[in-house]
Amino acid sequence: MTVRVFDDLSDLGRFAASHVVEAILARPDAVIGLATGSTPLPLYHAWAEAVALRGIDVSRVRGFALDEYADIDAGHPESYHSVVDREVVQLLGLTPSLVAVPSVLATAAEASAYEAAIAAAGGVDVQILGIGRNGHFAFNEPGSALDSRTRRVSLAPETIADNARFFPSEADVPTEAITQGLGTIMEARKLVIVAIGESKAQAVAAAIEGPVTTEMPASIAQLHPNAVFVLDTAAASLLK
Ligand code: F6R
Repeated sequence: MTVRVFDDLSDLGRFAASHVVEAILARPDAVIGLATGSTPLPLYHAWAEAVALRGIDVSRVRGFALDEYADIDAGHPESYHSVVDREVVQLLGLTPSLVAVPSVLATAAEASAYEAAIAAAGGVDVQILGIGRNGHFAFNEPGSALDSRTRRVSLAPETIADNARFFPSEADVPTEAITQGLGTIMEARKLVIVAIGESKAQAVAAAIEGPVTTEMPASIAQLHPNAVFVLDTAAASLLK
């Protein structure tokens, strides 16, 4: 596990994006695991900048989103179908049919189909991850089994409160989701875990320096052979 800390968000984004860009240069049909939310935006912008500046062909890049709200209308502007389309596919110019997001139906059948699609693609080369304030990875909330697979889950109250900023009110935030499991995420060949801001400092310190425990899902990254934490100074502020 390596940890890199940046003062400047553009530098942070460029470093985080360099792992994705390297994977695509090595293999133009690389499989990239996509996170939503605010944290990966500097990475996505730096990735787009590299694509434009260096003329990188991303038409064959494949993508799998980490998660999606359950029972939301896929066309809702805050569904992860819409967010991934707007903030990743359109920004980068990826081929829409090569980028998958878990089904809003969030059934067991859809969950196994998603696992099967990732396996059929040969697994994820680089998985981009954020961390919840409560230490969640994707929507694996505290208490999730370390070997969990893609499934329907209930969102923790902190997650609903945090995601209320994307909806008219907290009551409008879906309470359930479909998420890749911790076991699924750990099979990616590289994890690029980004955390920005003081609100993440406690979870970051526990994930990196605390015990590996289901109470801190992000701590599982300690067991990954190729994980890099990319932090700003505020998110890193409680590291020893
Ligand atoms: C998003 C996801 C979540 C977020 C986390 C941090 O696909 O799976 O785990 O990465 O909630 O969210 P932000 O980046 O908005 O602080």
